[in-house]
Amino acid sequence: MKKLNKDLLQIREATIEDAHFLAEFGKNTFLEAYSYDENEENTALHLLQNFNPERIETEIRGGNVIFLIAELELKPIGYAKLIKYLKPQFNLPYEGDYMEINKVYIQKEYIGCGVGQELIGNIIQRAEKEHIEVLWLVVWADNAKAISFYKKFRFSIQGFHPFQFGKETFQDLLMTKKL
Ligand SMILES: CC(C)(COP(=O)(O)OP(=O)(O)OC[C@H]1O[C@@H](n2cnc3c(N)ncnc32)[C@H](O)[C@@H]1OP(=O)(O)O)[C@@H](O)C(=O)NCCC(=O)NCCS
Repeated sequence: MKKLNKDLLQIREATIEDAHFLAEFGKNTFLEAYSYDENEENTALHLLQNFNPERIETEIRGGNVIFLIAELELKPIGYAKLIKYLKPQFNLPYEGDYMEINKVYIQKEYIGCGVGQELIGNIIQRAEKEHIEVLWLVVWADNAKAISFYKKFRFSIQGFHPFQFGKETFQDLLMTKKL
């Protein structure tokens, strides 16, 4: 495992100039994480829907979607996608504003080096600054690594939540953190 010098790590908000990069990087880190066959129908559809530069550009222009890029000496090694003011399909007893952590991916060779921790710390700080009351995310129930990672930041499991993957809908876990 690489030892990370956190002084060389920078987290910046992506602009529309990053849309092509984010589409490629997002696709690669997704395939790396799950070893899916990119030609399988649902995977191909998921890639097309999620890692499409035009869609990413439109999302950034819209203002409620934020992509954060983690760079080590200016080399991107991870990213997160946030959606402000989006609520989960789940009844929660909180009135205020919600923000979804839609994606967090670290490049394989940097997993476990503390990059995810820096990204989540940055996300929590941003959310607090913007008076978001609830951070939430949906995670695959078999992704024990990610679940324990989120638990470390005091996210708790609320129950099952639908997750659209290509043409199929799966039941994944909803995790929330009240700020
Ligand atoms: C999940 C993910 C974002 C975590 O980022 P990371 O950079 O690997 O995590 P960090 O190195 O910052 O770890 C932070 C803390 O999380 C916990 N953690 C990380 N990996 C863990 C593991 N395999 N098992 C248990 N806890 C773990 C640790 O407590 C660690 O704290 P420590 O420094 O005290 O050990 C990253 O592993 C990843 O991109 N995985 C593949 C994609 C994915 O699953 N994304 C989430 C989809 S919902």
